[in-house]
Amino acid sequence: MKIEIITGFPKLLRSPLNESIIRQAKKKKLVSIRVHDLRKYTHDKHKTIDDTPYGGGAGMILKPEPIFECIDSLQKKREYDEVIYLTADGETFSQKYANELSLKKNLIFLCGHYKSIDHRVREKLITKEISIGDYVLTGGELAALVVVDAIIRLIPGVLGDSESMLTDSFQEDLLDCPSYTKPAEYRGMKVPAILLSGDHKAIERWRREQRIERTKQRRKGLLS
Ligand code: ADE
Repeated sequence: MKIEIITGFPKLLRSPLNESIIRQAKKKKLVSIRVHDLRKYTHDKHKTIDDTPYGGGAGMILKPEPIFECIDSLQKKREYDEVIYLTADGETFSQKYANELSLKKNLIFLCGHYKSIDHRVREKLITKEISIGDYVLTGGELAALVVVDAIIRLIPGVLGDSESMLTDSFQEDLLDCPSYTKPAEYRGMKVPAILLSGDHKAIERWRREQRIERTKQRRKGLLS
């Protein structure tokens, strides 16, 4: 999968994209991620990417020209399945949405910043708008990281133990079950005996019951 992330603040993205599982996925060539600095697509001395809103009002708006030029240059080289804008008024992201996007080949993510972006970008270039929740961030960068992280871990080969992804919270609309590791007893707290039993069928049954029970308690709405 090829992922392009367009931003006026590339430093916000660099470190999280170069650690842990995402770093490994890039090393294994399962995904390539490129961060594009909007300021490289400006033509003035100050590398201006934003301006005041027409009609007045508070906040700055990302200018259309650098965004159009950046996306044009990417689309000249290959086709992209989606051009995704991260915004608080987009469709709410979910595990199901992550599953769908993980099947795509080439994706562009556009991060907003300040108050908004020029609406002509949304009308002409954007194919999907995603929100990561009902709250407002200072920009789309952290949201892009959330979405990209959720997608990448679903690409076959990225997680060592492919089963662990299938039993994640929200796969099958169930939350995940409790997990334990060694020691079997710590500060008087014991790991449930069933997990030490070696009876794999019974363990599987226990885990499923736990998933259903936790979903009932925490997220009843998921059980339909
Ligand atoms: N940009 C600002 N707030 C956001 C949110 N909640 N989700 C995605 N992008 C955003």
